[in-house]
Amino acid sequence: MSRKFLVALGSAALALSLAACSGGGAGSGGDTGDKKPGDLTIGVSMPTQTSERWIADGNAVKSKLEAKGYKVDLQYAGDDIPTQSQQVDQMITQGADVLVIAAIDGTALSSQLQAAAAAKIPVISYDRLIRGSKDVDFYVSFDNYKVGVAQGTALLVGLGLLNKDGSKGTAKGPFNIELFAGSLDDNNTQYFFGGAMDTLKPFVDAGTLKVKSKQTTPEQVATLRWQQETAQKRMENLLTSSYNDGSKVDGVLSPYDGISRGIITALQNAGYGSGAKKLPVVTGQDAEIASIKLINDGVQNSTVFKDTRLLADQAVNAAEAFLQKKEPQANDTKTYNNGVKVVPAYLLPIATVYKDDIKATLIDSGYWTAEEVAAGQAKK
Ligand code: BGC
Repeated sequence: MSRKFLVALGSAALALSLAACSGGGAGSGGDTGDKKPGDLTIGVSMPTQTSERWIADGNAVKSKLEAKGYKVDLQYAGDDIPTQSQQVDQMITQGADVLVIAAIDGTALSSQLQAAAAAKIPVISYDRLIRGSKDVDFYVSFDNYKVGVAQGTALLVGLGLLNKDGSKGTAKGPFNIELFAGSLDDNNTQYFFGGAMDTLKPFVDAGTLKVKSKQTTPEQVATLRWQQETAQKRMENLLTSSYNDGSKVDGVLSPYDGISRGIITALQNAGYGSGAKKLPVVTGQDAEIASIKLINDGVQNSTVFKDTRLLADQAVNAAEAFLQKKEPQANDTKTYNNGVKVVPAYLLPIATVYKDDIKATLIDSGYWTAEEVAAGQAKK
């Protein structure tokens, strides 16, 4: 037997024995079917609390599982990869029966997943696909390519090149735009950016849209860890390097509301939004309350709403199916190849929110209240 194989076996055995020591459900992935919910623990690993959506996701998954009687170990990793690895390791050794993981870096958890597989703990990839591992059992997310298409379309609608119904708008252009993408280690980024660029490309090719900075590759436009401050800095740099000749930015493709707010701050600091210098059309994602207020006030153009309550439901359904030794129900078994295998997925629909949609999509559905929208702040 080769040394490498022995080492691998050794760590799997360690994971198993550690799991077995800790009692309650430890390493019991194999026989959870006979246990009561109160004897089963679901480990939920979330990336960060700096973004509202992950707090909502974590709380929703936790409360829905607890309502069914399960125990939940919810951890946030402060957007730090070693912290997340450590937290997941600990969930495994403390005897989690299922893991629900929204990864910071989609490729950084392979050894944790190996240990989970060795302990027969099913792994559900939450919203962000974990890459490069065969030990991902299920994926719950939204249609991420469509998110990108929606962002590209919203930019075109905001500029007047398209109408909301998809028909041709009256604007002629040409317009100056700039592009932002999310964190490259997040598998979703390629879908968001890809969907948006497929939508914008015909207009770029026709010369109707001009990326004045010429920064168009994912590497040039990415925003590490999706940080607002990083986006603000890059927008400031773009303004000084490419718009100091009296030209104006007309539109900015932004993949996430936090990034949008960084971009808007940079633009406002440079005098956009006062006098004749209109703020450009800025897109977004996640329907964060601060951005919903900006959309309501006519500052941000739009966002893409992804109902985290429904995503939490799907994570709970999948976790419960695994605990009952069943296969969770997938509605997509083709799209999400993680580099090693196609992971069966349940994908939820998305909705673009312009100012006119805030009431019907967000307030009437109970996602935000009218008071929260007016204040730009969540109540709880
Ligand atoms: C999520 C987005 C979110 C982004 C930043 C992505 O993986 O799908 O909803 O805006 O991460 O947190």
